[in-house]
Amino acid sequence: MQICVLGTGHVGLVTAAAFARFGHDVCAYDADARKMDLLQRGDMPFYEPGMEELVHAEVAAGRLRFEPDPAVAIRGAEAVFICVGTPPRADGEANLRAVEAAATMVAEHATGDVVVVEKSTVPAGTAERVAATMERIGNARFRVASNPEFLREGKAVQDALHPDRLLVGSDVPDALAVLRRIYATQIERGVPYIETDLRSAELAKHACNAFLSMKISYANALARICERADADVTAIADVMGSDPRIGRAFLDAGLGFGGYCFPKDVQAFERFAKGLGYDFGLLREVERINEEAVEATFARIKEACWNLESKRVALLGLSFKPDTDDVRFAPALKLARLLLDAGAEVIGFDPQAEPNAKREVPELNVAPGPYDAAEGAHCAVVCTEWDQVRSIDLVRLRTAMAEPVLIDGRNVFTPEAAASAGFRYYPTGRRPTLA
Ligand code: UGA
Repeated sequence: MQICVLGTGHVGLVTAAAFARFGHDVCAYDADARKMDLLQRGDMPFYEPGMEELVHAEVAAGRLRFEPDPAVAIRGAEAVFICVGTPPRADGEANLRAVEAAATMVAEHATGDVVVVEKSTVPAGTAERVAATMERIGNARFRVASNPEFLREGKAVQDALHPDRLLVGSDVPDALAVLRRIYATQIERGVPYIETDLRSAELAKHACNAFLSMKISYANALARICERADADVTAIADVMGSDPRIGRAFLDAGLGFGGYCFPKDVQAFERFAKGLGYDFGLLREVERINEEAVEATFARIKEACWNLESKRVALLGLSFKPDTDDVRFAPALKLARLLLDAGAEVIGFDPQAEPNAKREVPELNVAPGPYDAAEGAHCAVVCTEWDQVRSIDLVRLRTAMAEPVLIDGRNVFTPEAAASAGFRYYPTGRRPTLA
């Protein structure tokens, strides 16, 4: 089937390549000319494991193209997927300008019958706005559907090619039939395939992301209690996780959640509920506890280092999670700002995210490796659990440092390993080892 994907960000680019791998004829467009240039040259606009190989293979097979002219990209497509960004406005509401612009573009350039599929995370009711926009322009014959994406950064290729479930929503049977054809190979393979009405599909995505964020904040609130009660949050998470009704996933306490999904989706969902006259205070609390997670780590650094002026702090990992160069809403950068404001010198290491981190926080120094970052430092902080951080030789790290202080914002080390390397070790929600 001929498919057009509008937007080549973290969702759009992987989605386009995955559709090509499923055997479709895919054309992707992005309003950002720089991104189009890069992609047409075979370069990737961001780091995602396995993505470059997949994109190159599909381009070489002739199933995937990047087209800077939207008219050409959309012409002849049976389905157009809207994968544009929905950034937060100052009050947390989702800004849907790019979705409206995409709908306008489809209305202007679609030829024949087209199914317009929303993949961007949007508040319920957006697809109806898309339909109204297209009707107003009046050119195309179209139906609308929602197909929220559940892929995770860092595992996006695997998630797109082997999803744990697929969700499609539409109020029009024809549109559902087109989506079933698009996902035929996945359905045949037995991937759970859920069909709902349009609004439920849109709302389900916010419901999932907000629920996972709530699990993380629950673990972080528990960590605050464990720190006061001298208990171990990891042991408690393991106990909770052994109950299949709870599940162990997303109960890791630490610096909290970041990235371009959870922080903005929790806010957008709360604002959406408020707009409907429902006060979803639980979600404000999820946000508050998430902010508190960074503040608690900052307080622990202060406790360990005393005054921060002229102290050197090494941040190990800068991206919001491992295996990505994405630093949007990264807890590490929030922490970097708090430390810089307190007068510390901050030096970070990240296997992929250094250029992006430097762009976001120019006062941040960066080092090529963890031991370089630790050179002369009074404190090292684990911010992101990259393999390159997990596998650090703690003795070598301690030897490089001015003071043996290790703050573990992701609980990747054991108290025993840290202590035997000679560190004063401060994990999160667990007893510090201060000998
Ligand atoms: C998340 C969802 O997991 C995807 O299903 C969804 O498609 C995506 O948002 C989206 O809406 O596009 P992602 O943001 O890539 O994916 O990353 P996650 O693996 O969910 O992690 C989010 C944040 O939570 C990270 O900062 C991570 O460090 C943090 N986290 C995760 C914890 O602090 N503790 C945990 O136990 C788990």
